[in-house]
Amino acid sequence: MSLPQLIRSTFLEKYGSEPLLIRSPGRINLIGEHTDYNEGFVLPAAIDKYIYLGFAKNASGSCRIYSLDFEEEQIFTLEELKPRNGWINFVMGVAAQFVGAGYVLEGFDCVFGGDIPIGAGLSSSAALENGVGLGLSELFALRIEKLDLVRYSQQAEHDFAGVKCGIMDMFASMMGKKEQALRLDCRSLDFAYFPVDLGNYQWLLCDSGVSHSLADSAYNKRREECRQGVALVQAHHPNVSSLRDVDAEQLKLLKDQLPGTVFRRCSYVIQENERVIQSCEALEQNDLDRFGAYLYRSHEGLSQDYEVSCPELDFLVDFTRDLSEVAGSRMMGGGFGGCTLNLVKKSASQFFTEKISAAYQNRFGIQLKAYEVNVVDGTKRHFLH
Ligand code: GLA
Repeated sequence: MSLPQLIRSTFLEKYGSEPLLIRSPGRINLIGEHTDYNEGFVLPAAIDKYIYLGFAKNASGSCRIYSLDFEEEQIFTLEELKPRNGWINFVMGVAAQFVGAGYVLEGFDCVFGGDIPIGAGLSSSAALENGVGLGLSELFALRIEKLDLVRYSQQAEHDFAGVKCGIMDMFASMMGKKEQALRLDCRSLDFAYFPVDLGNYQWLLCDSGVSHSLADSAYNKRREECRQGVALVQAHHPNVSSLRDVDAEQLKLLKDQLPGTVFRRCSYVIQENERVIQSCEALEQNDLDRFGAYLYRSHEGLSQDYEVSCPELDFLVDFTRDLSEVAGSRMMGGGFGGCTLNLVKKSASQFFTEKISAAYQNRFGIQLKAYEVNVVDGTKRHFLH
């Protein structure tokens, strides 16, 4: 039985009615890391790892939500939408945004489950939030704009999960398009679909299997360090409102006035923004070698200046450096664990996976998981054939 069929049959069994189905994807980010909350550029894409959700009204005042993966049901009412612990926050957080925006909801049931690895940096939480948002919009015929749903998902993450994330993950999962990346300006939210022709290469994710318990607080701290940097630059350049407005020269001239850590964080962000633009040029010219070189440089910046990598991720990236079958590699997402993104020759992908898995096992005693991923459409209704 396929996953959406399983969602439907579990729904029928538990809640006794026919559900409306939604499919919501995870995401990769080609390049542009930790730039979104600095009003910079990102280049993400939705991938063929999904959360499926089933919804129906239940004519009661309460909401019953069943997670297939955790084999757990949680119940809440629309009058008491306060943060709890765990996965339910991603559901309640979105419901709270709807209520806060003045939409009238009634009791509903939901069953969800998926194959996006959790804690691997592939934005399973954004996929879930988007799925809940679109599901409720469809179920209650609210016709909410996709961009508003994206904002609700982001705010749910801030208010209920306590992570002050940028907008990239939700945006990519909701707006993704088959075989296209999204070139997104996180200041104006202008975006363009960007065709990525990988020729005889493909995306391969290497999941380090590490997820750092301090990742959320470190993430918020990076955000704060960037804010500090902006405040110090502003004292000299009052027109600056984010790192997007600062160039490398300006920052260099102020080096002595910034704490060393803040300087390194800011210079990473400024360079990474530049790399997104250059990467797009390289991709337009089908120059995968040049693009691959930017991936490596992005990783170096994330590891040395932004300090969000970890020994496992550094090892996985370093291992690929001299391999002719790999054009580029870098850690992806917030950091401190999760996956590396690798641009690997299709014909050598299996051989590469075996080689890197053996080396990783040997070094860290961890069984590496590798996923080949393809670029797909964003969150939408799903119909069983
Ligand atoms: C996490 C956040 C995103 C983004 C990335 C880093 O995935 O949710 O908003 O900041 O980290 O690029």
